[in-house]
Amino acid sequence: MGRQPLVAANWKMHGQRGRIASLIAGIRSGLTAVGGVEIAVCPPYVYLQQVGELVTGSPIILGAQNLAVEESGAFTGEISGPMLAEFGCHYVIVGHSERRNLFGESDALVADKFIAAQKHGLVPVLCVGEKAVHRKAGTTEKVIAEQLDAVISKSGIESLANAVIAYEPVWAIGSGKTATPDQAQPVHAFIRNRLAGHDAGIAEEARIIYGGSVNAANAKELFAETDIDGALVGGASLNAEEFVNICKVAATVAAD
Ligand code: 13P
Repeated sequence: MGRQPLVAANWKMHGQRGRIASLIAGIRSGLTAVGGVEIAVCPPYVYLQQVGELVTGSPIILGAQNLAVEESGAFTGEISGPMLAEFGCHYVIVGHSERRNLFGESDALVADKFIAAQKHGLVPVLCVGEKAVHRKAGTTEKVIAEQLDAVISKSGIESLANAVIAYEPVWAIGSGKTATPDQAQPVHAFIRNRLAGHDAGIAEEARIIYGGSVNAANAKELFAETDIDGALVGGASLNAEEFVNICKVAATVAAD
């Protein structure tokens, strides 16, 4: 059986009650004829309850953008795995490059968050990706290997059976400069091979999605690649029609 594609919306720090209601309504109505693709939305924490209610009875899955390592305690401003689980989250993004680069999250901390997510029944969407400087220097694979290995060595390869990996080249995020299929596919294959070095079965089953300036126009050629199993969509996910169209592309490519 092939891997079911996942198209996940990362709304980042965007939202407003009214806008979210129409966004979800637009996605719900646009998705009625879309099958064979898993679709998730990751709103800011404060909108989880609202979005949870709005997606009830639809195939849309709820996810969060981050979590704390700890379960509870004196950690002002943090949100824990059990809280996310209580609000109906299935997925949680860990190690997004904005968390790594703007908030100083290390590979080790990301690994701890990955473990915390699974401990509370959440499925981590582990983000990895190189910066432009790494790609230029030819160290893309080295950086990705370090980010991956930090999780595998702490959490064990078995834990990857219950996770999604998102390859998000930092230079492609929010820049309109999506990676071409020729740039993205080899990195996806590299990630899968790295997993296969530990467990071939887990590598084969693992969903490795791409993120970085994905839109309805560039999605098809990316999804057509062997090792690209969907997308983590930022900016384009804030437009219902565009997001739905990306989901439709994933469904069409998967059905081919
Ligand atoms: P953009 O789609 O806005 O480039 O963002 C990608 C991303 O960071 C998703 O997590």
